[in-house]
Amino acid sequence: MKIQNLLLGFVAAVLTLSASAQQPIVIKFSHVVAADTPKGKASEFFAKKAAELTKNKVKVEVYANSSLYKDKEEMEALQLGAVQMLAPSLAKFGPLGAKEFEVFDFPYIFDDTADLHKITQGAIGASILAKLEPKGIKGLAFWDNGFKSFSANTPIKTPADLKGKKLRIQSSKVLEEQIRSVGGLPQVMAFSEVYQALQTGVVDGTENPISNFETQKMYEVQKHLSLTNHGYLGYAVIVNKKFWEGLPADVRGQLEQAMKEATVYANKIAQEENDNSLEKVKKSGKTTIYTPSKEEKMAFKKAMAPTHSKMADRVGKDLLQSIYKETGFDPNTI
Ligand code: LMR
Repeated sequence: MKIQNLLLGFVAAVLTLSASAQQPIVIKFSHVVAADTPKGKASEFFAKKAAELTKNKVKVEVYANSSLYKDKEEMEALQLGAVQMLAPSLAKFGPLGAKEFEVFDFPYIFDDTADLHKITQGAIGASILAKLEPKGIKGLAFWDNGFKSFSANTPIKTPADLKGKKLRIQSSKVLEEQIRSVGGLPQVMAFSEVYQALQTGVVDGTENPISNFETQKMYEVQKHLSLTNHGYLGYAVIVNKKFWEGLPADVRGQLEQAMKEATVYANKIAQEENDNSLEKVKKSGKTTIYTPSKEEKMAFKKAMAPTHSKMADRVGKDLLQSIYKETGFDPNTI
């Protein structure tokens, strides 16, 4: 009898062990934008690839639209390990103390995506991601979104049209200075609160790539959108470092491959998604879309140029210079 009990106990223990061995490793991936955006689609793509390459050893659960955490909370949650993966916009790393990320917020620093990729896909980008390691965070990749445009309830053709306007921005000191350079009043606010703030007049306007403007339905509450393309908004995909380093090496390798493929996908669809969103905004008939002329664009560029010298120390003069060198941008020639 005793031996029988022992045997039964042994069998039960083996069964429990093998059941737990089959439990997938769960990665909670939280983000603040709609599923139908470059970041939303790329995170779903990563989840699928991760399942495929790890043969379901890893289950990535994607939580879109701030359904799990808002901007600031998600960073804290990642550091605490309550969520394993995020893709915050680059403008949101300043409050963590990783000020170098704000270099991406300098107005007009990238002429186009080719310029941007010289940084995000090169040594400078890697060195910026490495700044996160002492904070318990590992940076895995940069994902594109696109260039930002201004919206408000009044037309925006010149920098003077933004004077005195309360404009929502992300939590970046460089963005604060950029708004001040055109006489606007910067208002830092979580992404999930922007629609209501625009609707109730808590703020007058905002800046965003068109994919966010459209999928958050900001066109319902903004009469004017001016395609200023004055700055860049993109993402760093990050993980809790301890979690990442604690993964079995083979699984981590498969996830790295999934991330590589998701990054190619993200950067391939970003422009397309923004173009589609612009069409949808046009079709809505609710927002008047204005394309500034070359001269008007130059006036924005000139007005915002002092942001570069004023905020150089914030991100580090050497870093800023190294980017100018790669992209050929020179704020002194504007
Ligand atoms: C914003 O807050 O405007 C953006 O960072 C949202 C996003 O993640 O694209």
